[in-house]
Amino acid sequence: MEFEELVRARRSIRGYKPDPVPRAVIEEIIAVAKGAPSSMNTQPWYLHVVTGVPLDRIRKGNTENMVAGVKPKRDFPMKEAYEGVHRQRQIEIAVQLFEAMGIARDDKEKRMDWVMRGFRQFDAPVSIVLTYDKILEPAAISQFDLGAISYGICLAAWERGLGTVINGQGIMQSDVVREHARIPDDQNIMTCIAMGYPDEDFSANTVKSRRAGGDDFVSYVGFE
Ligand SMILES: Cc1cc2nc3c(=O)[nH]c(=O)nc-3n(C[C@H](O)[C@H](O)[C@H](O)COP(=O)(O)O)c2cc1C
Repeated sequence: MEFEELVRARRSIRGYKPDPVPRAVIEEIIAVAKGAPSSMNTQPWYLHVVTGVPLDRIRKGNTENMVAGVKPKRDFPMKEAYEGVHRQRQIEIAVQLFEAMGIARDDKEKRMDWVMRGFRQFDAPVSIVLTYDKILEPAAISQFDLGAISYGICLAAWERGLGTVINGQGIMQSDVVREHARIPDDQNIMTCIAMGYPDEDFSANTVKSRRAGGDDFVSYVGFE
């Protein structure tokens, strides 16, 4: 696929076929994605590729904790809630997804089902958990680097007919993920990427999120 076509076509996938993803294909994707740039070539990422029984245990643990009201636990500080334009964009994608899924605004049960689906990483057959060494904290630069490899993974997967969704929901109970993905204590969990073959009949998979116009976030200086 041409690069531009690939970038324009990719979107987050939240419904998957149960078909397993061959390990060789995941290895190819990682081999491409690790070409990402990183600060001073530190390559601060670790990728924990999880499938099968351990991934099911993570889904179960996440679900049980969330149902029991266990407070989400992340390995690094997070902003609690978005405001202003960021909040508006957050709402816009949620509205698009709920409309596609036929979930009414006041349908609390279906909304809760959707949220729980996220904690199960959308039942994807594979999850790649991204971590970095704790000694890198304060790690904004390393987190930036993990973002670069994440996008590479999503694009290289899409090129091979695989869908992905980077998701914070899957790692919100970081102790559960750490235990079942066997993540060493000296690493911080950043995020995870659910991956699998897209279910063509899953309506949320058709959602194309919107982007701000260039005027909203780009400034050109010295061109006049
Ligand atoms: C760091 C990060 C965390 C995300 N967490 C979630 C999540 O928990 N649940 C979810 O459904 N999507 C999640 N997403 C996907 C975004 O909602 C999605 O990328 C955004 O709406 C743009 O849509 P697109 O990926 O289809 O272009 C996350 C994306 C990123 C980059």
